[in-house]
Amino acid sequence: MRFSERVMAVEPSVTLGITSGAKAMLASGEDVVVLAAGEPDFDTPESVKEAAIKAIREGRTKYTPVGGTRSLKEAVCRKLKRENGLDYDVDEVVVSCGAKHSLYNVLQVICNPGDEVLVIAPYWLSYPEMVKLAGARPKIIPARRENAFKAAAEDIRAALTEKTRAVIINSPSNPAGVVYKKAELREIAGICLAGGVTMISDEIYEKIIFDGKKHFSIAAVSEEARAATIVVNGVSKSYSMTGWRIGYLAAGRKVASMVSTLQSHSTSNPCSVSQAAAEFALSSADLEGELRRNREEFQRRRDVLMDRLSEEKKLRPFKPEGAFYLFCDISECGMDSLTFSRRLLDEKKVAVIPGGPFGDDRSIRISFATDLAAIEEGAERIKDWVRGM
Ligand SMILES: Cc1ncc(COP(=O)(O)O)c(C=O)c1O
Repeated sequence: MRFSERVMAVEPSVTLGITSGAKAMLASGEDVVVLAAGEPDFDTPESVKEAAIKAIREGRTKYTPVGGTRSLKEAVCRKLKRENGLDYDVDEVVVSCGAKHSLYNVLQVICNPGDEVLVIAPYWLSYPEMVKLAGARPKIIPARRENAFKAAAEDIRAALTEKTRAVIINSPSNPAGVVYKKAELREIAGICLAGGVTMISDEIYEKIIFDGKKHFSIAAVSEEARAATIVVNGVSKSYSMTGWRIGYLAAGRKVASMVSTLQSHSTSNPCSVSQAAAEFALSSADLEGELRRNREEFQRRRDVLMDRLSEEKKLRPFKPEGAFYLFCDISECGMDSLTFSRRLLDEKKVAVIPGGPFGDDRSIRISFATDLAAIEEGAERIKDWVRGM
């Protein structure tokens, strides 16, 4: 059988090897501490589950419009207005099977062969692969740790060519928990607007943000920025709803209609029952208390993990301001990130994710989306192992 060059150009996920290895060890009764999760360990709120059960009982189990029900899109518009100060019409919103699907659709719709999409490293590992699948070329902008892993405006300006189609902004970010300030986003938006470049703003970790910081969308910088930005968000991380597969985008009418067309010939509508659940989540003010408690718990865990790892001088943890990952420099340990992660799993039974596939081979990603006892035990084992080197 022959395979498509497009798909063959995509990197298989090396992180999967670590996670499935850890799962197999756990299944065979080994005492593994898993600090690799990419999803909140909290359950979906009960009231959201009830909304889904109600939708099933009411027979909301048929096809819906391709880009989501009107009532869900209205809930998304109200959310964007209320929380982000952004005005969108229902025709400018498309609901898909997760934010990942929204991002994939966007890149398919805006990219042509030869186009370049700027990706800031360290990045979420799916960005470059999705860009390649859209026939374009990811152009990586390395963000330095000394610059808090943020792209300097000058670096973005210098990377622009006539081939640049878009830049992906992710705040709060995976893997380093970077949160861009309003002024920084204003500067980046100015450069993109001057260069005629689309901004794709992945805001999936919006609600997992620490130290009283507030999320700000680059689309809210100005009306011009709003017009040049595609906002991507969803309920996965904010509402502990990763399995429900609901994400959405808000953009200009033309982008939204093209994404709907693409989706109409691929997945059709996202799951009708999940849409009902997401609509409830986005509309329910009663969930605020639960979300706040989850956020506070994530912050507590971050602080414990940060404190513990900082005790070992060969480890240089970077304090995240959002999301639920801690990016830790391990370059003093004398091995690349994949070797470090594999050996840590074999020798100390701690699963972490290597930074290499995220564009930084000097670091590992440690998830704190697990209970405090596991975090403390994991941190002790890592320190113990590193000390013994
Ligand atoms: C930065 C980032 N964007 C998007 C997603 C995908 O979210 P969803 O589950 O809604 O597809 C993830 C999930 O890991 C992520 O880390």
